[in-house]
Amino acid sequence: MEAKEKLFPGLDGVVAAETKISFLDTVQSEIVIQGYDLIKLSQSKDYLDIVHLLLEERLPESTEKIGMEKILKSEYDIPAEILEIFKHLPESTHPMDGLRTGISALAGYDNNLDERSLPVNKNRSYQLLGKVPNVVANSYRIIQKMEPIRPNKSLSYSANFFYMITGREPSPLEEKIFDRSLVLYSEHEMPNSTFTARVIASTQSDLYGALTGAVASLKGNLHGGANEAVMYMLNEADSVSKFEQMLETKLFKKEKIMGFGHRVYMKKMDPRALMMKEALKELCDIKEDHLLFEMCEAGERIMEREKGIYPNLDYYAAPVYWMLGIPIPLYTPIFFSARTVGLCAHVIEQHANNRLFRPRVHYTGERRVLN
Ligand code: COA
Repeated sequence: MEAKEKLFPGLDGVVAAETKISFLDTVQSEIVIQGYDLIKLSQSKDYLDIVHLLLEERLPESTEKIGMEKILKSEYDIPAEILEIFKHLPESTHPMDGLRTGISALAGYDNNLDERSLPVNKNRSYQLLGKVPNVVANSYRIIQKMEPIRPNKSLSYSANFFYMITGREPSPLEEKIFDRSLVLYSEHEMPNSTFTARVIASTQSDLYGALTGAVASLKGNLHGGANEAVMYMLNEADSVSKFEQMLETKLFKKEKIMGFGHRVYMKKMDPRALMMKEALKELCDIKEDHLLFEMCEAGERIMEREKGIYPNLDYYAAPVYWMLGIPIPLYTPIFFSARTVGLCAHVIEQHANNRLFRPRVHYTGERRVLN
């Protein structure tokens, strides 16, 4: 009989890959992205800087950034047939499922699909980065029986994304905050969706397949779906005292509170959450409406006192998106769209230095004899 290898439920603490892309340094409390601290990046760099950093492994010169933005804009359009597919999906289709269908369908339009070389994968990543916001906005709109919306190339990448999901151009402050949320969501080491993408890529499957799997992973409440769940909770409570009561009841029933806890940070606040908390304060100040901020802070206090656990990014991104007027069902698709660049970087790295993922199990079933 084989000796039993040690079992790690949920692969907790298991190191599954070597990477130069990112690392959660819990000792120095830094989210390291290509060597830089993500929080510091988010204070002075925008989403396109991070796209360049993740795909080209360095921050761009200003002319390079302009060139890259041009390429992204030239990739905004998606095939009319894909818009047509969305028309045939039932209205009950979840936006993440619409997004998953759209990304999957894009594979058919890549006439170089079997090619996995670095330049081709990078080019494919830029194409996807151009198209994913369009897929997010129009899969949602068309499934909801709204007219499709055309990208506005006169706006910045983030402002156009905002425009396509809300139907209006953002103010400079809204654009800055939305862009910052994309930076904070852009890459985060090895969450379930990134692991999923790398597992799929490790079979030599293509980028579209890896991203399609990652959408499915990110949809779950324990992962990206948490941001939408947080907003539904806040809306249902609608006052500080009712929110406190709601959390106390959920904790009493041993339910998980969405937007709190993290496999890696667990007993510390996710530093990205702090950035979105500041953004929420800024938006509440401007709108002279502090209800959401006060509710969130009250929730934080309860969770610290009762469980000793802290908010993750989704807890504060949700009310920020609400204050920006973004429809709740698009919160997780936005997370995915921002994370597309991180996922592409990981798939490229996996393809460049591949070993098939194929773990083992502890078998707990019976052994039977066939007569
Ligand atoms: N609410 C209440 N308790 C929580 C909690 C939460 N959000 N997150 C963790 N805990 C508690 C667990 O009940 C458990 O307590 P116990 O030891 O007394 O049983 C302990 O903390 C460890 O939790 P566990 O679920 O084993 O940790 P994990 O590493 O598997 O889970 C998450 C990490 C993110 C899945 C988990 O924190 C969670 O479900 N959070 C809510 C969903 C969410 O916000 N997801 C987005 C993550 S970025």
